[in-house]
Parts: sequence; C-alpha cells; structure tokens
Amino acid sequence: MRSLLLLFVLHLLGAWCVRADRYHPASPAGRAAAINHAETESAFWINEAQEAIAKRLKRTESVKKARNVVMFLGDGMSVPTLAAARTLLGQRRHATGEEARMHFETFPTVGMVKTYCADAQIADSACTATAYLCGVKSAYGAIGVNAGVKRRDCEASRDGARHVQSIAEWALADGRDAGIVTTTRITHASPAGVYAKVADRNWEYNQPLEDLGFDTERCPDIALQLIHKHPGNKLKVILGGGRRNLLPDDVLDEEDMPGFRTDKRNLINEWKQDKIDRGVSHGYIWNRDQLLEANSTLPEYLLGLFENNHLQYNMQRNNKTEPTLTELTEVAIRSLSRNEKGFFLFVEGGRIDHAHHDNLVELALDETLEMDAAVARAAEMLSEDDSLIVVTADHSHVMAFNGYSERGHDILGPSTDVDEHGKPYMTLSYTNGPGFRSHVNGNRPDVTTEDNFLKLDWESHVDVPLDSETHGGDDVAVFARGPHHSMFTGLYEQSQLPHLMAYAAGIGPGLSCCSGANAVGASVGVISIFILLSFIFIR
Ligand SMILES: *[C@@H]1O[C@H](CO)[C@@H](O)[C@H](O)[C@H]1NC(C)=O
Ligand SMILES: *[C@@H]1O[C@H](CO)[C@@H](O)[C@H](O)[C@H]1NC(C)=O
Ligand SMILES: [Zn+2]
Repeated sequence: MRSLLLLFVLHLLGAWCVRADRYHPASPAGRAAAINHAETESAFWINEAQEAIAKRLKRTESVKKARNVVMFLGDGMSVPTLAAARTLLGQRRHATGEEARMHFETFPTVGMVKTYCADAQIADSACTATAYLCGVKSAYGAIGVNAGVKRRDCEASRDGARHVQSIAEWALADGRDAGIVTTTRITHASPAGVYAKVADRNWEYNQPLEDLGFDTERCPDIALQLIHKHPGNKLKVILGGGRRNLLPDDVLDEEDMPGFRTDKRNLINEWKQDKIDRGVSHGYIWNRDQLLEANSTLPEYLLGLFENNHLQYNMQRNNKTEPTLTELTEVAIRSLSRNEKGFFLFVEGGRIDHAHHDNLVELALDETLEMDAAVARAAEMLSEDDSLIVVTADHSHVMAFNGYSERGHDILGPSTDVDEHGKPYMTLSYTNGPGFRSHVNGNRPDVTTEDNFLKLDWESHVDVPLDSETHGGDDVAVFARGPHHSMFTGLYEQSQLPHLMAYAAGIGPGLSCCSGANAVGASVGVISIFILLSFIFIR
C-alpha cells in the first residue's frame, strides 16, 4: 500500500517536471510585452554598464567637514515601495517605467539598516525616530529616551540620565541652526524625535497623559516640549501640520477646526510671546501664500502649521492654499542657510506610511515621488562639497510587488497573471490591512469589477483582515550624497545613522571626521587612500 502511494506521488512529480518549471511559468497568459527596442541588443546593456563604471571612476568624495546635513525620512518607505514608485515615475513619463530612477536613487552610496527596536521585532515610528535621530534604540512607542524607559512610564522618563540627545541638539551645541519639515502633525512620532523626550508617542497634547493619571508638569506633552523645552524652542524652522495639538479645545483654528488642548493653553501664542520676550524676529503662518511671503522676508524664527491634522495627501491637496513638500523644504533651506556655521534639517515625507496603512497604494507611491522631488530641490540648492544629504525610511510595510506581468505593465493595475480560479490579482497588494474581501465558495471576488476600482480611495486586496495594515520587519535602504557619503555603505543598525551624520559634520560626542586628535588621524587616513587611488589612476 505504502509503495503504491509512493509510486503515485513520484508519478505526480514527474508530471510536474514535464510541465517545465512549476515555480516559474514559462509564459504568463496574455503577454504582450512592451520591450524597448534598443534593449534587444546586447550592446545596450554592455554600454549601460560601462557608462556606470566610468561614472563611478570619476566620483569624488569630499572629505571636508559637512557644514549642512539634511536628513530625508520617507515614513514607511520600504524597498518594494521604492521599486514601485520609480516604475510609476517612469510610466507617468510614458516610458515602460522599470528603468526609471528617482533622484535620490542616483546618490553614490547606498546602505541598508536593521530597524528592530529594543523590545520590538517590528518597529514603529517612535522607537525608530529615537534610533535614526538620537542614535540609541528605545522601546516601541517611546521617543528620545533609552530602553530603560518602558512605553507610558512617565516616572522613568523623568530621569535625565535616560534622555538621549538628538543630532539637532549636537548641531545647536556647535552653533549651527536646526529645523523640521514634515507632512504630518508636527508633534507626530518622527518629527518628535528631533526634540521630544517622552514615554509615549500618543502624548501629543495634554489630554492623553491626563487620561492615564499623569500631569504635564511632571511629564510635558510633545507639543509643550516643542514650544518650551530645549531643543524645540531653539528650532529656527518648524513646518508641518497639527495645529490642533497646540490650540485650546474652545478655540477654532484658521480653517474653523477645533483645538484639542483641554488645559486651554494656546501654544501658538506662547511661541510668539517667547520670541517677543527674546527680541527675535518671527513669523507664524498657516497657508501657502504666507509661506511664499515668508520666503522673501525670512524671519529668524518661522512656525508654519498648514493643517489642523496632517497635511493633505499631495494628490488631494488644494494647490492654492497648501504648499508642496518641495516648497516647504526650499524655504527651510533658504532660512537655515543664513547661519554660516551650517545647519541640520529634518524633512519627512510622513504620509507614505498612512497611505500604506489604508492599502491606498497610488497615494503611497505618489507621496514617495513628492519626497523625491523635495530631495531633488535640496540637492540643487546645496553643494555636494559641503552638504550631506541622507535619504532613508524608518521601517518597512507589507506591500508586495508580485506576479509575472510583462515589461511596462501598468504598475497600478492588475497582474497579467490570474489566480488558480481565473480571478485577477493586483501587481501591488498587501499581506494585511483593511482591503480584505471574503471569499465566495472558495473563490476570491473579481476586484476589477468594483465600482471605485483604481480610484484613489480603492483599497488593494489583502490576505489578513486588519483595521490598519502593519509595518514590516525587513530592512530599509539609506542613500547618501556629500561629504563622507561612503560612511553610509553596508548593512548596519539604524541607530548608527545619526552617529555617521555627526561624524561627517564634525559634531556630537563621538568620533568626528574633521576636528580633534582622532579626527586628524581619520582624515589623514582618508587623504592617504585618496592619494593612493589617484596614484593608481594616473598610472
Ligand atoms: C491646481 O489644481 C487645478 C485643479 O486641479 C489645476 O487645474 C491646476 O493646473 C493646478 N495648478 C498647479 C500649479 O499645479
Ligand atoms: C524663494 O525665493 C527664492 C529667491 O527669491 C526663489 O528663487 C524661490 O523660487 C522662492 N521659492 C519659493 C518656494 O517661492
Ligand atoms: Zn505606520
């Protein structure tokens, strides 16, 4: 009996083998590939590679101290998000798409970082912000404190020995300026990493703390820290959303939306008063026209809050009243550039993450391209010789780029392939999230017949039903350009990032490229490698 069964199994296996490679279908149905004609010649790829080598050989790396550091953070910008966004970029330009490159993908150095947190296999934006801005891994949900502080432990977070400094503080200590630009609430987890020391990312205003029986005298909420504590009150540029967390709950903001603060404090007014008391020029703005005006007057301190909550998605933005991330970034750089010693600027494309959580793939990709446009503008404004630009993500997401579609196939559309029951599936779908559809008699529904199919609010399909799609535990990429960019190569802990940036900028408590005894040794090392390399090339 057993041997009969074995024979049967072997027979089945044989049948599989005859059908060629069952893992990789030879010819997905309906294939009509749009091959770029030049690519059919070997010379195309050989030349492409040779040009890439020539470009690498011409590459120089500034070994100066980086005067300016701009860190771009694509919240939730996973590696599949990069591949899909660049394909969309190419397809919007009427090309096949896969061959396109986003601006930051042309940066000379690429690395990978491990994003887990001290107590979490899969990270959130709070513990990762502590890692990539303060250089220490913290507990899930905690910001600006080490892992000795558990989430929501107000008392533990009061211990200054458990606070960690952000790279913005290192820059300020060196006499440079610092600023933040984000598309999220200015008190959201990622930007809070620049200035807050808090046991829970949800303590953006007073009420969530008080609900747990804590008080803001002992544990100030994130908005309070931004306006009144070091280094929040030293930031020269603060641009983002989230007016509600700075305004009393009995006050309406400029767009008639209520504040959230039950302690009745108006932190926007308190920010203005603080600047008046210090006798410094300042401007509070809340719409695009005012931003463009501020761009010409450039007050010393600029606070811009463009929404009650997060900024709108770029594709749903009112382009008259709401600025782009590129415009915000440009004004921030112009403003901070007035300090001759240089600056640290944090820029977040924060809503890639939100769109992924809602399985809204087109919005996630468009937000990625918007951040890339801001990177391109920054790269245009700042010299490679003295300005370091780093682009990375905090954590991954569970969007999959899957199937076997032909070259140039619509990245936002269904795969050329179909499932075992002949039902279409999407090239971009998710492991989990709100886009779950019940199966009918064991069959997936045909999502392409849904009323809002491919509209901006259409949720791609998922395997596991969840209210909100989850982050992923896989590594994220780091792109670097400017002085000491090659320090960012390799695979390493996310918490190394601010140390590497500080090294290149010659700030912070650790090793530095360009000042002090260690640094002299290090630059001599780098310079000798350069001399050695030029010797080899000249020969
Ligand atoms: C602003 O949006 C309107 C309406 O969608 C569009 O017609 C116009 O071209 C946009 N302007 C810019 C500068 O993008
Ligand atoms: C800001 O001002 C500069 C200098 O006048 C100008 O070149 C730039 O286009 C302005 N940027 C924005 C976003 O208005
Ligand atoms: Zn998230």
